[in-house]
Amino acid sequence: MSDIKIKITDREGVLHEVDAPTDMNMNLMEIVRSYELAPEGTIGICGGMAMCASCQCYVNSSHDLPEMSDDEDAMLAEAFYVKDNSRLGCQIHMTEDLNGLEVELAPES
Ligand code: FES
Repeated sequence: MSDIKIKITDREGVLHEVDAPTDMNMNLMEIVRSYELAPEGTIGICGGMAMCASCQCYVNSSHDLPEMSDDEDAMLAEAFYVKDNSRLGCQIHMTEDLNGLEVELAPES
């Protein structure tokens, strides 16, 4: 199996269930961009370097996610609208363990 299902709620509150490949080294921010679930220029601004927080999302399922790096932790400490379940989408890589992941895009800041 190389595709997993992910539920993504966009910034308008619309739920999208999408297929995400696990064999293309993609991260969640890139999945959101590839399905055009957020307007161009509002997500992934730093290109996935954990330096902009435009890809912030709230993780609403109880999947075991990889631990935050110091860079991600530091970026979220400065970002707006941060909640306990905030993560940077660009730091979440698509793996089979994440099948059924449910996330919500944080508001644009
Ligand atoms: S794309 Fe900039 S922090 Fe994720």
